[in-house]
Order: sequence, then structure tokens, then C-alpha cells
Amino acid sequence: MGVLKNGELWNDVSGAPLHAHGGYIIFYEGYYYWYGEDRRENFYVSCYRSRNLSDWEFRNHVLTTGSGMEEYRVRTKLRLQNEDGKKVNLERPKVLYNEKTKKFVMWMHFENGKDYHDAAVGIASCDAPDGDFTYHGHFNPYGYMSRDCTLFKDDDGAAYFISAARDNADLHVYRLTDDYMNVDALVHKLWQGEYREAPAVVKTNGKYYMLTSFCTGWAPNQGKYAVADSMEGKWSMLKEIGDGTTYLSQPAFILEVNGRILYFGDRWGGDGEKYFESGYVVYPLVEKEGGLSMEYVEEIEI
Ligand code: GAL
Repeated sequence: MGVLKNGELWNDVSGAPLHAHGGYIIFYEGYYYWYGEDRRENFYVSCYRSRNLSDWEFRNHVLTTGSGMEEYRVRTKLRLQNEDGKKVNLERPKVLYNEKTKKFVMWMHFENGKDYHDAAVGIASCDAPDGDFTYHGHFNPYGYMSRDCTLFKDDDGAAYFISAARDNADLHVYRLTDDYMNVDALVHKLWQGEYREAPAVVKTNGKYYMLTSFCTGWAPNQGKYAVADSMEGKWSMLKEIGDGTTYLSQPAFILEVNGRILYFGDRWGGDGEKYFESGYVVYPLVEKEGGLSMEYVEEIEI
């Protein structure tokens, strides 16, 4: 058990800053694995693991400019550097374990490193949670733009990719193929014209909740959430959660642990050098009168 101070850039157990921004956590064989953006050097995605969610051990730079590449689908673009030999942008990496193929599959937001016009999704996979992932390229699902994103795995193994489309105006929900390597169907175009970003989903007590931010770059804004009886069912209208800045954070993901619903967010430093000062927050979410509320805490014991 440890205490995490909200808003700070936490350290791993070696005392080094933990770089896993815009990330995601999965539980696999006794460990939590945390994946997230690591923009240092030639890294893209780093992976840490923990048994208790507070002591994190660095495991691997699972995706870098030097990662192996392998085409998986036709007409995906295999580029981990742009034509100027510079890094591309890989943001908000999310990973799911596929029970059928025994692979760890990563989905993330791809941009060319110069602007945000590609608005595509990149995919990678690996046989181990913290091994060297193989990059399978990027594409636009059914031709749509795809920016801020998340993955969600339902109890029956069905997986969904949720991403901001039409210059972030609409939020799309795609059901994935059984191997999680492609989209199988576009099941929803949610909240047209509301510009929701940074989606994060949790299922609790038979309800599905989706938290999102508004669209203001690195600056925090009013979080909103919606609820549904199933991923493919009808989603409610958006309701506000937290304060006007979501207590100075933007959603990364939501985790349910021992009956507690924990919201993990990024407190972004901003662009350029400031990005590397970005910290993390964990706020408890509480179901109340058919809705969801966010509890502001300075620190959290996990
Ligand atoms: C935010 C987004 C981040 C990053 C940033 C760049 O809206 O959530 O992941 O893309 O914009 O300005």
C-alpha cells in the first residue's frame, strides 16, 4: 500500500520518473501493467508493472523508433519515423490481452510528428505484456479520422475502440474483430458536434460509464460522462463531472479495484519541454443516485 500525491510526476521503484502518459493499465497474471507515452529519446511507449498499483517497476520500452514492423492488413502505412527522419507522434497507447490469440494488442493515436492531419490509428502486438511490440502500421478506420482514443474489453471478451472523429466533433465506437487487430463494425457515432476527447470507459454494477474531456489541447477542461446498459446500446446525454477543469486533469483510463472505481488522469505540463513535467492524478469515482461523481483528493492511498 502506498500514497500517491496527485498532480506529481511519480517515480518508479528505482527513483526514476515514471513516463507513461495518456496511458492504460491491464491486469495479467498477478501484475498490473501500465503502458503510456514516453517521448524521451527514441521511445514511444513504455511499460511498468506493479502488484499494488503504487510501486512501479520499469519493464521495457515496448515501442520505439527501432521496433520491428510487420504488415498485417493491406494498405496500412508502416512508418515509425517521418520523411524527415524525425519521430512521429504516438499518443494514448492502450493494450488488451486477447485470450484467443494469446497476444497483447496495442491501439494508439498516430500523427506524422509535424501536424495533426493524419488523424489515424496505429496498431502493434506482442506475445508478452512487456516484450518488444511489433508495429503493424496505421490507418483510418473506414476512412474516418481517429484521434484521442481508448480500448474497452467487455466481460464476454468483445472489445471496442473508441476514438474522436470528424476533427474531434464526434466520438465513434467501433467493435473489434475477434483477434482485436481490426475494426469489425462502427457501432456508434456519439454526441455529434460535442467535441469530446480523451475517452475512458468502465463497467460497474452492470452499467457502462464513459468519461471524456472537451477539446482544448493540453489545457484541462470540464469533464463529462455518459451511461449505457451496454456498449452497443443507447448512451445517455453528457453530464458534467468534477469541476470546470476536472480537478486539473484529462482522462487517461478508469480502473475498478477492490470495489473502488479509480479515475486516472494526466495533469499535462503542456507542449515541448513542459510535456516532460506532466503528472498523474487518481480520483475516486462514486455512483450516486443513478449518476457518477468524482471525489477530489490531494493524495490517494492504493
Ligand atoms: C489533447 C489530447 C492529447 C494531445 C494534445 C495535443 O487534446 O488529449 O492527447 O493530443 O491534445 O495538443
